This record gives sequence, C-alpha cells and structure tokens, in this order.
Amino acid sequence: MCLILLANSLLPLCWSRESYKLEDIIESLSLEEKAGQLNLVPLEGEPTDELLQAIREGKIGSLLKSNGAEQNLRIQKVAVEESASGIPILFQEDVIHGYKTITPTPLAEAASWDLELIRASAALAAREAASSGIHLTYAPMVDISRDPRWGRILEGSGEDPYLGAMIAVARVRGFQESGLDFHQNLLACAKHFAGYGATLAGRDYNISDLSERELREIHLPPFQSAIDANVSSVMSAYTSYDALPASANPFLLRTILRQEMGFRGLLMTDWDTIGNLCRIGIAKDNRAAAKMAFKAGIEMDMFSQAYLEHIPELVRLGDIDEDQLNQAVSKVLELKQKARLFDDPYAYFDKEREEKELLSDDNRNLAKDIARKSIVLLKNDNSLLPFSPDIKSIAVVGPFAKAKRDLLGWWSAMGSPEETVSIWEGLAEQLGQNVELSYAPGCSIVRFEKSGASLLPEAVNISRRADVAIIVVGEEYWMSGEGGGTASLHLPGLQEQLIAEVAATGTPVVTVVVTGKPYILTEVARHSDAIIQAWMPGTMGGAAVAEILTGAFNPSGKLPVTFPIHQGQIPIYYSYRRTSHPFDPGPKDNRYTASHRDIGIRPLYPFGYGLSYTTFLYSEIRLSSDTMRTGGSIEASVTVTNTGENNGREIVQLYISDEIASVTRPVKELKGFQLIDLNVGESQTVTFEITPDSLSFIGADYKAIREPGRFVLQIGTSSEETKQAAFTLVGGWSE
Ligand code: BGC
Repeated sequence: MCLILLANSLLPLCWSRESYKLEDIIESLSLEEKAGQLNLVPLEGEPTDELLQAIREGKIGSLLKSNGAEQNLRIQKVAVEESASGIPILFQEDVIHGYKTITPTPLAEAASWDLELIRASAALAAREAASSGIHLTYAPMVDISRDPRWGRILEGSGEDPYLGAMIAVARVRGFQESGLDFHQNLLACAKHFAGYGATLAGRDYNISDLSERELREIHLPPFQSAIDANVSSVMSAYTSYDALPASANPFLLRTILRQEMGFRGLLMTDWDTIGNLCRIGIAKDNRAAAKMAFKAGIEMDMFSQAYLEHIPELVRLGDIDEDQLNQAVSKVLELKQKARLFDDPYAYFDKEREEKELLSDDNRNLAKDIARKSIVLLKNDNSLLPFSPDIKSIAVVGPFAKAKRDLLGWWSAMGSPEETVSIWEGLAEQLGQNVELSYAPGCSIVRFEKSGASLLPEAVNISRRADVAIIVVGEEYWMSGEGGGTASLHLPGLQEQLIAEVAATGTPVVTVVVTGKPYILTEVARHSDAIIQAWMPGTMGGAAVAEILTGAFNPSGKLPVTFPIHQGQIPIYYSYRRTSHPFDPGPKDNRYTASHRDIGIRPLYPFGYGLSYTTFLYSEIRLSSDTMRTGGSIEASVTVTNTGENNGREIVQLYISDEIASVTRPVKELKGFQLIDLNVGESQTVTFEITPDSLSFIGADYKAIREPGRFVLQIGTSSEETKQAAFTLVGGWSE
C-alpha cells in the first residue's frame, strides 16, 4: 500500500508519479477496498460522519450528487488524504439538460435537429457541472420511445433510431470533449441499457416485452453510436429483456453490449437495480442478487450496497473469481484515470471558476438560442404569427403564462425558478412599450382536477377586449420525467375548456404549449389559430418563446416524435412495418384495413413536421444514377427555395424504403437530414449520398444484410410531405 505522502501536497506518492500502473494499485487493495471501489453511494446535503468514515475505510468509490465544488473538495480530501488507498472519489450526478443554466429538455432539443447546437448544449452543461466538482453525468439517455404516456420520453430524442443515434453522438461529444481543459469535461453515461423506452403502456418501471428484432433495430442503434463516440459508461435499465432484468442479463450485457457492440467502458446499474432482483423475484437475497449482477457483467452498484456487503465473501468462497473482480475495479479506476483524478484529484474543485461559470451571460445566451431552435410551430392559420405591428393589445392567459419552475422541466439539477424567465416576462420585455398586455390565469392546476372554474370569466373578458389572446397551457414539471407518465394526454384540468371559451369570443387565439411530452392537441387545434410547442424550454424559455411570437426569431423546429390525434392510436410512429392490409380505409371506407374504424391512422402532427414564417419549395429529386452497385453509392439532390417573406431555416429530411425484403420492413425510415438557412428568394441544392450502409437491415438471422432490389427514396419537409424517386440496388451483401 502506498502511504508515503509528499511533504508539500499531502498526496500519496504513487498518484503523483507519471507512470503509476492501475494493476499495481489494484494489487495493493484488500477485497473490501476493491468492493468499495464498485460501490456508488448517494449524498444528501452535508456528508454525515458515518459517510466520511466509510470513505476513510475505502468503502465508497463514487458519490451521487454534488453540492458544489467547496463541499466536494472537503470530501475528496478525506478520500485522498485519510483513506489507506488514497484513491479519489468519482463524483456523479444527473446533469441531463443543464446544471445551473437549464437548457430545454432533451426531447425539445431533439426538435432542433441541430447536432452542433445539441453538442454545444451538452458542453455547456459539462462546463458548469464540472466547475461544481462533478466528474460524470448520467446522460445522455438514448432510449427510443414511441409512447408519449411515458414520462421519460422527454429525456430522450424521440421515436426514431437514426435521429436518436446522431443526437447520442452529439451529446456524448459535448459532455466529454468540451474542447477546453480536461476539468471542464464530464464523463458521459449512455442509459438505460436496453429497451427501457418500450416500457409497457408507458408506465415507468413496468415490464417491457419486446422482440429481439425490435431491440436490435430500434433500441440498440443509439447505444452503438454512443459507444463508437467513446462513451465512458453505460447504465443498465430497470426493465427486463426476455423476462430477465437488465442488470442480471448476460445476453444483454455480455453477449450484446460487450462482445457484439464492443463496449469497453464502465457498466453500472441504475438505482438499486441489484436490490430489485429480489423484489422482482429472481434472487432470494442481496447476496444472490450481487452474484447474479456481477456474473452478468455489472461493475458498479448504484445504491444497493450489495457489492460492498457480499463481494468479498463471494470471492473468498470461490463464487466470484478475483481476476474478474480486479477487471471490474480496473474499469472504475480507468474512469478515474480518464478524469485525471490520479494526476490531480482536486482539479475539478475551484470555487472561483465555479462562480464565473454558473449562469454566465454566455451560458444564458446560448440557452436562449437552443430554446428558440427547439420550439416547433404547429399551426399558423392566416399567418397570425408573427404578430403584426397593428396589434396593440394582447391578453396573456393560462395557468402557465407566469410559470417558472415548470419551464425547467424534470431533472433540473441546480436550476432555480428565480433565475428563470417566464413567458409573461419575456413578452413584457419585448412588447411592453408598444403593446398593452393584460393577464389572467384562466384556471388553476391542482393535480389533475378540473379546478379554478371561477377564474375562467376574467380570462374570457380580457381576451374579448384584446386584439389577440395568447393562451399558455401545459403540464406541471412533475407530470413528465421519471415516474411522471400519465394515462391521459389531454391537457390537465380545465385548460381545453379555457381555450374553447376564449376562442368563442372571436379574438384570434395563439396557444403556447408547455409540456415535456407530446399531448393530444386535437381540441386545442380546433380552437386555436396558431399553436407553438414550446416544450419545457429552460432558464431562458420565456425570452425564447417571446422572440418566436414577435417574429424576432423565425421558428425552425421539427417534431422528433409523432403527435397522435387520439390517445387510442398509441403507440404511434411514422416508421411502422408493412402489413398485409392497407392502412388507409380509402374513399369507400374499406373495413378490411389495418386501421381503427373511427379515427384512422393519421396523426395530428407527423414526425418531422414543423412550420416556419416562410415557405420552402422543393424541386423534384435528381438521382446521379437509378442503379447502385455493391461497393458504390449514388447521390440524390433536391433544390429548395425560400419562396416566402422571411429568412428561415429548413430541415431537409431523407427517407428510404425497401420495397421487397426477406423480413418485413418499415414503410419508410429516416436516413439523413440537413439544415439549411435560406434568405428570402434564395435557393440551395441539398445532396445526400446514399451508400450501401443506408440500405442494410437486420436479416432473419439478426445479422446485417443488404438485398438487391428496388428502393424508394423520399426527400421532404416532414415524414409525410416528400418528393419521391426510385432506384435499384444490384448485388447484395451479408455479414
Ligand atoms: C434513474 C436514472 C438516474 C438515477 C440516478 C434512476 O432512478 O432511472 O436515470 O440516473 O436514478 O439519479
């Protein structure tokens, strides 16, 4: 054991050398200390004496939750200077969409489709959180979800594996490579492996019962991209795959994650998922659970303490091989090494840097830009938006008009309502001088009750007198996020009634929707002239929404998830698999279709949809060739022209469908997108290279395959509005 201390720094000598070896460190640890390195323990408020003592005894390798650089420094000193091994603690936290400056929720950011912006958002979060003494974030959540009832849909990138995979890379890079000093980065953790987004009926922590094909086609691609982008860690899911909980599932963790996907980083559990093995009924006690999870490949135990309590004994009894334990410890130490904790365990704790970084002007401005680009304009009849200069009075109504906490959404780390700009404040700031603004809440939100009916008349009255009514509706922050799913996706309380009553006054209505997850906006759309999906837009959300309403910023977001027309359509997504029967009943109302008799299959707003204050005209598609050979590629181009009256951004989307394949394929799949900024009258040609990779799929034996035949390619402004062309692939390939 290395106990020789440097006189001036008090660091154990071994960590101060440039060439320390992890094997030597591991070699020097007792079994208890090794188990301690695998033990991740939550920290609430001030550390207790008991917790500090456990650190001294080498029983804690990582802590979950930071309360700032100063406190972490004190704790780290105990680990480094008072424990026998001197191994620093790895501080971890859920830094999901910002730390102090809160950016829009991840699903909202996905609506920007702007990978550079999403990268910059993660880098902002990394700079702030790292300045507060955090080393690792439990993000990105890369779970694909097609069920808007699931509260955690807000934490991911939506329904599509391709978009999800691209965004996973952007987020991993943003967290891990801020481009500044190492102590301004966070180690990332892709979660929750795997299939958590398929939780049945959208109820959190429920079973998910998905096929291997669905797992591989839909849920694994974003993880693969995160791994290829060098993500440092992966977290196992609460859910089971094929009736075996993820944290005890060697097929999922060893065969797929390690062997097939090539993951080399640290594998950790989710909160108490080792303890859960007993609750689920596959382990009789924590000891059995620890053994199962370890054998399945889990290295770090979040919360349960089962590793700390049982691994030393399991090794002594020969139930766990010490070499394997050493390998698990080395995964933890490799991350500590990656964060350079052995070189300088205190580098992350700098109060001065923390003060400068948190909520800086630059960070707030960036957060506003991200929020503006995440907002989606869903409806804009008669070009009601942006407001014309003739508008002299606006009634701002609705229970979320002055909301602050709800703009931050779930997982808002150190973000605080006091530092948040409400929509009312944003409007007052931007319109206050020239337009008369009046306010009434219209109803109240008391859980899901229909409350505050007495507030309706005032909202109706001020709306009647105004040139325009802005109705800010939504859900409270706790109604989405972990454990926050809802069976009903109608706006809670009296909000739909409020919109209908205000609309009945004849005053034009703009509805601003503040929600984490997609809601059923069918009634809202019936009574609104314009709708803005503002999501939960973060610290600067109110300023961003106001800039969209006034036209200071032209909206460009596109939905990363389908908005159903009716709850009964759920799960609903654009890339459904072909069936024997048509989806559309057709003009003769054919009953023999794969469609509901009452509502059909069309959503209210499809994947990829979003309006702008300008219009874009697409040319027909030009193909460089209508034949593609194995090993070759072809190019597909369209020219897009801004035919409207505002400069604007368009997100040009490419979809491909395989007409005949050996397994049933989706009707179309997103395979590319490009963002273009066009001034009024300007045209740009957008070219996509179609490579054989874009045509491959998972064959009957679960291996990647490409088959010759005809492919249809669509390029357009949403998954439903596209131009079309076809080409033929000659020659196939399989792995
Ligand atoms: C969540 C994880 C989160 C962890 C730690 C769990 O309940 O599922 O996503 O990272 O708690 O807070």
